[in-house]
Amino acid sequence: MEIDDPRPLPEPALLQAPLDGAAKRAGLFLQPDLPLTDPSVLSAPTMLRVERLNLFYGDKQALSDINLHVARNSVTSFIGPSGCGKSTLLRCLNRMNDLIDDVRIEGRVLLGDTDIYAPGTDVIALRKRAGMVFQKSNPFPKSIFENVAYGLRIQGQRDRLVLEEAVERSLKGAGLWEEVKDRLKDSAQGLSGGQQQRLCIARALAVRPEIILMDEPCSALDPIATARVEELILELKREFTIVIVTHNMQQARRVSDMTACLMLDDNAKEGQRTGVIAEFSATDRLFTNPKDPRTEAYITGRIA
Ligand SMILES: Nc1ncnc2c1ncn2[C@@H]1O[C@H](COP(=O)(O)OP(=O)(O)OP(=O)(O)O)[C@@H](O)[C@H]1O
Ligand SMILES: [Mg+2]
Repeated sequence: MEIDDPRPLPEPALLQAPLDGAAKRAGLFLQPDLPLTDPSVLSAPTMLRVERLNLFYGDKQALSDINLHVARNSVTSFIGPSGCGKSTLLRCLNRMNDLIDDVRIEGRVLLGDTDIYAPGTDVIALRKRAGMVFQKSNPFPKSIFENVAYGLRIQGQRDRLVLEEAVERSLKGAGLWEEVKDRLKDSAQGLSGGQQQRLCIARALAVRPEIILMDEPCSALDPIATARVEELILELKREFTIVIVTHNMQQARRVSDMTACLMLDDNAKEGQRTGVIAEFSATDRLFTNPKDPRTEAYITGRIA
């Protein structure tokens, strides 16, 4: 069953909205080589929905009243200054924050029609549906083959042919097959940084997730390796739904359909500033005609 999101998505007409003064001052003109938000995304069914989410680390509130919806087969970016809660929010989407002591979460996160914080949720099954790729690629000290097969093995898969098929499919999906097909038994740690990051993407793909969560996947990569991963993200969205945290605003513009700009709430009490979503819009709209002055300040470099 799909979830009908009651909140309106941005009007497709807004995609053609004229640039206002803010965007012009910032020099943020739509460049012909940058993709526009795919209008089909705006009408696609919702894959993931966050409702009134608050998160506390002990006494300190890190996220406040987060509302978000992610369409199937779309790419959504989280941008915003350091410490505003982007990684925290991403980790909420597959309950990775469960691994941190003293975290309290209020609100709901719906993946399909499953409330992932409902009592009795099978967290292992959830993390299969929502895979994670981290900032620093983290191949295990095993062969390339075993790194990709890992998730299936811990699910109990022993059939060699099934594993081989899954490893090949996943490495092809991650754009790495041609580079490694003759050295599958070699250590994964002999791969370059960019190859290791694509290996980690292949490892996430192997268990056939519905959504892939990426936390600054390119921050340790050079421009060529970054371009490979960005191309890959655009290919993967045909089959998967992707949420990516990035500090690189050009990257957000290049790969994402929707962008959420997070901020530390200036109105909160001293010492208790919490992360909020300042703006959640179609990416081209957010970068050319931001609705919120804080978004404009961030994308023009006035909030670091
Ligand atoms: N495990 C934790 N325990 C306590 N506080 C935490 C923990 N992880 C993050 N925080 C706090 O929550 C807030 C948000 O952190 P988070 O890492 O989500 O920010 P971020 O936007 O991802 O930052 P960056 O861009 O630097 O990666 C910060 O104040 C941080 O200190
Ligand atoms: Mg982070």
